[in-house]
Amino acid sequence: MQYRQAETLNQPPRFGEGRQYWINTFGCQMNEHDSEIIAALVENLGYRPAAAPEEADLVIINTCAVRKKPEDKVASMLGKLYTLKEKRDDLIIAVGGCMTQQEDLASYIKNRFRQVDLVFGTHALPRLPDLLDRARREKETVVDIEEDYSGRESLPATRASAFHAWLPVIYGCNNFCAYCVVPFVRGRERSRHFEDIISEASVLAEKGYREITLLGQNVNSYGHDLPEKPSFASLLAELDQIEDLSRIRFMTSHPKDLSPELIDTVARGKKICEHFHLPAQSGSNRILKKMNRRYTREQYLELALTIKETIPDVSITSDIIVGFPGEKEEDFADTLDLLEQVRFDSAFAFIYSPRRGTKAEQFGDEAIYEEKEKRLQALNKIQQRISLEENERLVGTSREVLVEGPSKNNPELQTGRARTNKLIHFPGPEHLTGKLIRIRITEARTWNLFGEAEGEPY
Ligand code: 5AD
Ligand code: SF4
Repeated sequence: MQYRQAETLNQPPRFGEGRQYWINTFGCQMNEHDSEIIAALVENLGYRPAAAPEEADLVIINTCAVRKKPEDKVASMLGKLYTLKEKRDDLIIAVGGCMTQQEDLASYIKNRFRQVDLVFGTHALPRLPDLLDRARREKETVVDIEEDYSGRESLPATRASAFHAWLPVIYGCNNFCAYCVVPFVRGRERSRHFEDIISEASVLAEKGYREITLLGQNVNSYGHDLPEKPSFASLLAELDQIEDLSRIRFMTSHPKDLSPELIDTVARGKKICEHFHLPAQSGSNRILKKMNRRYTREQYLELALTIKETIPDVSITSDIIVGFPGEKEEDFADTLDLLEQVRFDSAFAFIYSPRRGTKAEQFGDEAIYEEKEKRLQALNKIQQRISLEENERLVGTSREVLVEGPSKNNPELQTGRARTNKLIHFPGPEHLTGKLIRIRITEARTWNLFGEAEGEPY
């Protein structure tokens, strides 16, 4: 009896009972997973998911700060929420994530958008229930952008998928690439304990999850801050032993830290998927140096070649920044040449976006924006040709896919991902979602493949 009382006292107040929440997420997979944690925390307060933002009593925007575009979208969304708040005074609006972890942007949102009740940073998740409790009671906007890393380890998550789970292994980044805001908004590298990751993955497998994706800004530096200094490769090898798990993915890999041990582990692993997201950012040594990437184009090319030679049917994807300050035609030509030599399966290209507080913000930049746009288009055209050519090589072969559900563009088709992360569409019934099945590929396009099921799902 006493125990039950104590338990009740420790429960957060369930002020969300009978109310609904809506979360809007911008940015990367780490942010998507943070939103799954936010969902679990607010569900513990009694809130249930709303079908649309208009029906919600609590709207949370989880922001991204990596480029200007997602920041602009947040501002326009807050403008729209203003009209909603005018009609419904009891609506709680909370803005969190990478944008708000920055002091100047947190104040900007607080002062410019008076309808916002709570501004919280990336480190505030463990304190979110209390912050929301304060936000509903206090008149002033509540702000928490403390750089306090505690409490993050044991947070629950309401996962968006029943068969695929995100699993962070290392938080933060120590690299300080000259263009990047991430080290400022996600803090220094903190590896999660080896055993905690293994036990979380085992619990997920027991619950029926088939696939996990290990997340980190730079998974390759996993373990350097732990007492036993376990390597990322040893973590993967251990996870590979979990019986009920079918697939293990990981991202993102920094080229400077990708070890031969890791390549061997992926080659030998049964469940470790043959896909490396290995951002090159540029193919010019001069620009790579200015970016503080700490590898040369030659080292990158050798790494990509070793990966391709060691792991059959591997896919390598990349991120490229176009128009970094001082990028000249010959630097850009080097990047295009890198694309041709590596032959990425796909590459995301972005026009450089100056970020406050970063080193590159102080670099002089004389190139005009239209020129950068032209470079982006030229690069995308080349990469799209390469992606299509790489996909065409797969026609006639057979691949295992994990089925994700009906295709977004054609509900008569099911969509799944190959181990290489390529999207494959095929005709089939909806009950295949969450199952593995072999698909014979019949048609290749730039972004995806089409095929037919072979044999039974498993
Ligand atoms: N401008 C443009 N692109 C950027 N990225 C990171 N910072 C910037 C920036 N300031 C890109 C990098 C990174 C990806 C997640 O976003 O290519 O790999
Ligand atoms: Fe940013 Fe570089 Fe860290 Fe990636 S490795 S998050 S690009 S600083």
